[in-house]
Amino acid sequence: MNNSNEIIEQYNAAVIGSYGRLNLALESGSGAAGVDADGKQYIDFGSGIGTNSLGYADSAWADAVSKQAHKVQHISNYYYNSTAAQFATKLTAMTETDKLFFGNSGAEANECAIKIARKRSFDKYGDRNRTTIITLVNSFHGRTVTTLSATGQEHFHNYFFPFTPGFKYVEANNIPALREAIDDTVCAIMFEFIQGEGGVIPLEQDFVNEIFALAKQHDLATISDEVQTGVGRTGKLLAAEHFGVKPDIVTLAKGLGGGLPIGVCLTRGEYASVLTPGTHGSTFGGNPVVCAGGLTVLNRLSDEAFLQEVAAKADYFRRSLAALPRVKSVSGIGLMLGAELDGVAAADVLQAALEKGLLVLTAKTKLRCLPPLTITYEQIDAGMAILKEILENA
Ligand SMILES: Cc1ncc(COP(=O)(O)O)c(C=O)c1O
Repeated sequence: MNNSNEIIEQYNAAVIGSYGRLNLALESGSGAAGVDADGKQYIDFGSGIGTNSLGYADSAWADAVSKQAHKVQHISNYYYNSTAAQFATKLTAMTETDKLFFGNSGAEANECAIKIARKRSFDKYGDRNRTTIITLVNSFHGRTVTTLSATGQEHFHNYFFPFTPGFKYVEANNIPALREAIDDTVCAIMFEFIQGEGGVIPLEQDFVNEIFALAKQHDLATISDEVQTGVGRTGKLLAAEHFGVKPDIVTLAKGLGGGLPIGVCLTRGEYASVLTPGTHGSTFGGNPVVCAGGLTVLNRLSDEAFLQEVAAKADYFRRSLAALPRVKSVSGIGLMLGAELDGVAAADVLQAALEKGLLVLTAKTKLRCLPPLTITYEQIDAGMAILKEILENA
């Protein structure tokens, strides 16, 4: 095998440079520990941005994936498959939703949500102007042209003009602004319960209540983007459970496949029958290999003890993070945490941590942690010791 430098050089020569990458070539791993091409170990507080929910190469997950790959890998959406059927049945039951659409990414799940909300509005009101979707300032919903439009951050609305019209941005937790934004062009409100890329900022309960009250009053679709907050990340299957609400449409991706590409758009009630044959599709959607991996994730999460353990570890993680030098405050819920630092840049801490064998993330000015749900207490301690050393000497 090539060493890290050779891999990095080879990759950069052939792959478009759309990311600011770190000098790390990960080649294997187990649980919350990754190994690079030179054999160096890393404790992973990032899990591929919240995606390797069961850690690296979980053995039950890898067995299910490889077993399915030996049976059938892809069938097209003209046909049916038992693994995809089981996955959809289990996920809709666990999330108390009615039906889902299968895609491959968070952005694709959100595109589907936007299409369902707009079509439902048009079907019901026959009004081509009742199409506006309110999203929140500082949100992040994806990288396609439409989900960039939905994203309430101006710096994403650049270069790729023209952007999809029909989005209106309201400051999170600002109830008067939300009320003010509603007019007869609005058909939906879309939000993250915790703004992830925006800096790990949870919504306030009162604001969430207002979203749902206004949606009911004006017959608007509620769309929760749980691409990052879902699938056990917050110690519950869905972050919505912390807020006691049931959105009409819920999108999931990231951790759902345990590291394989999947994005689903879950729907409740009338929203489940909006899309009819020919109105939406995705070649790889419902891929049996991905669904086999996803079923392993769902089986693990359907054990209440597993989620309780996630919540307990999250509590420990949060307290450990808050106790570190230079940590001013910790935000987030469960294993989705952001630390505001005093007098040191999160990006510098990330780089120093990498050198010492710890992978962390940043979100805006914060240090961000999204470890695998399976991380051990020992790994949490070992990662925190690295951060402590860096922050003490910063
Ligand atoms: C809340 C949220 N929505 C959507 C996305 C886009 O997901 P994907 O990169 O899988 O398209 C992300 C990715 O970070 C996200 O955090």
